[in-house]
Amino acid sequence: MIKQFTSASELHYFLAELKNDSKEIGFVPTMGALHDGHMALIDKAMRENDLVVCSIFVNPKQFNNADDLAKYPRTVNEDIKLLSKHNCHVVFVPSIDEIYPNEVSQKYNFGSLEALMEGEHRPGHFNGMAIVVKRLFEIVNPHRAYFGEKDFQQLMIVRRLVEMEDMGIDIVGCATSREFNGLAMSSRNKLLTEKQRNEASVIYRELSEIAKNYCTNVNEMNELISTGIKRINSIVDFEVEYLTLVDGDTLQPTVNQGYSWKPHLFIAVKVGNVRLIDNLPIIV
Ligand code: PAJ
Repeated sequence: MIKQFTSASELHYFLAELKNDSKEIGFVPTMGALHDGHMALIDKAMRENDLVVCSIFVNPKQFNNADDLAKYPRTVNEDIKLLSKHNCHVVFVPSIDEIYPNEVSQKYNFGSLEALMEGEHRPGHFNGMAIVVKRLFEIVNPHRAYFGEKDFQQLMIVRRLVEMEDMGIDIVGCATSREFNGLAMSSRNKLLTEKQRNEASVIYRELSEIAKNYCTNVNEMNELISTGIKRINSIVDFEVEYLTLVDGDTLQPTVNQGYSWKPHLFIAVKVGNVRLIDNLPIIV
């Protein structure tokens, strides 16, 4: 039977006792509307720890758009059933007051990691994300926490946060899970029509096409990227917000001296009023 908690302090003391018994705790923070991508993180955490905690909390602080927050899918009962099916030990479903008993005004500076892409297009998003992740880490105090490469920029920022705050938590990155047609799994896919969901396979297809034709000539690369953008934008309701080639370590478009360039593509696309993101490292 999965153990359910809504109280932060009850969960904290429950887990502290297990840690005293030398049990290793794995943690998977989520915003719910769970799908197979989330469950791959849970399964990996189950293999690598004695006890796994999943949190479900739609964090208002990381939404920079009220409409996006209001529409975000919420399926808590189904989520708990799915977690039970995967034998996850603990689910934490806190209220907003439980997470934010006091106003938090922390301002983080993640430097170049947040300058582009999601950081540029969703002002305040990463700060709100970091605030909730830090709070959840303090409550759960896990040995390891699992994050998807689907949100690659988030994963890098969480790693930086753990370093900055000296939290001593091992951040484990997990490969992106995709639908059979290549579309990256996402809770927001539930908001697409069936037609849009089929057509959204174009996102991964175009990323793969650019990756396949990768070369070091900047003009040729710009040309390839423009072609990809045009192809995606030609579908009704699809609009590319950005499609960017950056270095996978610095998340900057330029090569630093003495640094090996790891080309990595990042994309955000609006499909109607649903915003999808994806990314693909280019193997050179
Ligand atoms: P959420 O979007 O629910 O995602 C929870 C975790 O699942 C994240 O680490 C995300 O990268 C991972 N994930 C989602 N879809 C995935 C996929 N297709 N393949 C692999 N991993 C995937 O990300 C958040 O929630 C929030 O920002 C959170 C970290 C919980 C803070 O509020």
